[in-house]
Amino acid sequence: METVRIFDTTLRDGEQSPGATLNLQEKLEIARQLEALGVDIIEAGFPISSPGDFEAVKAVASAITKSTVCGLSRCIPADIDRAGEAVKGAKYPRIHVFCATSKIHRDHKLRKGKEDIIRISVESIKQALQYTTDIEFSPEDASRTELEFLEEITQAAIEAGATTVNLPDTVGYATPKSYGEVFAHLIRKLPIIREKGIILSSHCHDDLGMAVANSLSAVENGARQVECTINGIGERAGNASLEEVVMALKVRQDHYKIGTRIDTTKICPTSRMVSTLTGLTVQRNKAIVGENAFAHEAGIHQDGVLKFRETYEIMDPASVGLAKSSLVLGKHSGRHAFKERVVQLGYNLTEEQCEKAFAKFKALADKKKEVFDEDIEALVDDQLELIHQLWQLAGMQVIAGSTAIPTATVSLQESDGQVIQDASIGDGPVDAIFSAIQRLTGVHVNLTDFRIRAISKGKEALGEVQIELEHSGRKIRGRGLSTDILEASALAYLAAINRMRSLNDRVKIINGTV
Ligand code: KIV
Ligand code: ZN
Repeated sequence: METVRIFDTTLRDGEQSPGATLNLQEKLEIARQLEALGVDIIEAGFPISSPGDFEAVKAVASAITKSTVCGLSRCIPADIDRAGEAVKGAKYPRIHVFCATSKIHRDHKLRKGKEDIIRISVESIKQALQYTTDIEFSPEDASRTELEFLEEITQAAIEAGATTVNLPDTVGYATPKSYGEVFAHLIRKLPIIREKGIILSSHCHDDLGMAVANSLSAVENGARQVECTINGIGERAGNASLEEVVMALKVRQDHYKIGTRIDTTKICPTSRMVSTLTGLTVQRNKAIVGENAFAHEAGIHQDGVLKFRETYEIMDPASVGLAKSSLVLGKHSGRHAFKERVVQLGYNLTEEQCEKAFAKFKALADKKKEVFDEDIEALVDDQLELIHQLWQLAGMQVIAGSTAIPTATVSLQESDGQVIQDASIGDGPVDAIFSAIQRLTGVHVNLTDFRIRAISKGKEALGEVQIELEHSGRKIRGRGLSTDILEASALAYLAAINRMRSLNDRVKIINGTV
């Protein structure tokens, strides 16, 4: 069967979601998971945007061997060199250059005419060819670009050496019919597309909730690459969601008659990993990966599913990797069984990370009789985040209750091993903990979100606290995990502060110099 390429941009467009910043280790872990999922191309970042992003793209390029690794670049010589340097170590490197083409972008953003835009696009593609022959060109805001100009620039880009032309619906304005027609039109008008075997690609944003429908319409009209993200994360309302596009093509194969290389049984673990590491929670009723996607509440539905699953289920939950939560390990399980389970769940941990996760597993198994896959995933994801820690929680004592003044005494261990201690009162126990940490670290931030949930079943379940802090207009998230929710809160707060530091903000945020 013919296939459509899946181009995953979770690490680039997805990471542009406010508060979703990922560090290098997290990007690497997601990239490995995407490779195992079977995505054809991983857009690992925008190398010119920061030294951190450059390093992350470079690290992904050298770690990934099955998927193509792509770096984004504007049509600016320094950008292209940076993207080229970042991906050149990849087994299959790609550079993705883009230049806006719609009238509104030409007049107001670029302040350039059509000829200039064609010229810089062609020059950029030629420069990128010095690094790799796999070049993707995107006329940004293609869906609002005059068709005639789109033809002209597509022809020029292909003649210059682009092998994939991506037609972004940058602002989520297109409708399935109009977007599909753009593909059909270019294929009809430009014989060079067929002659050279050029891949046309869709890239849709979800501002009107039509990103997936638009992507599928593009496929029906000749697109052979779909750009998408896990959980549909991305700029503003997000991008087309990978799991929805892939499962629509699979479940409705009778209609689309085209497949993908995705191992759909890895969809749910990948979704959970991306949600945990980006801090962007998946809405309960989200198609395919939401908590309720396979839950049947109505009695009539439950009765129907029990009699014959297909009465109310168009997909087998197992086909997207939603295995029934099983009791996998307990307090007598050894290191070997634990490591094997971690690998089965799709993680590649270093020895050191695995040892630390195992120690936490043992501590959890002591408190909790039943340890579920969700618990192990949470412990491992937590481990991935425990990278550059400037401060670690060394101990904590909290006084709370209806008549007591909430008071927290917190001890932190600094990276040089020194332990510091302070206490604070607050409006409640969590507030008291956060202000004690602020006193100790000298980092003053605003708390903009606080969420708490149980990871698995039972009264001893692991509690997960997710918080979002704001500093100088920048949102940073943190996550903490413990069977004690006050400890989980302290860990989440510290994780966010440590993350700020790992994003090179330390000098600026400490002592309030910003
Ligand atoms: O939405 C968009 O236009 C983009 C381009 C950079 C491809 O993300
Ligand atoms: Zn985009």
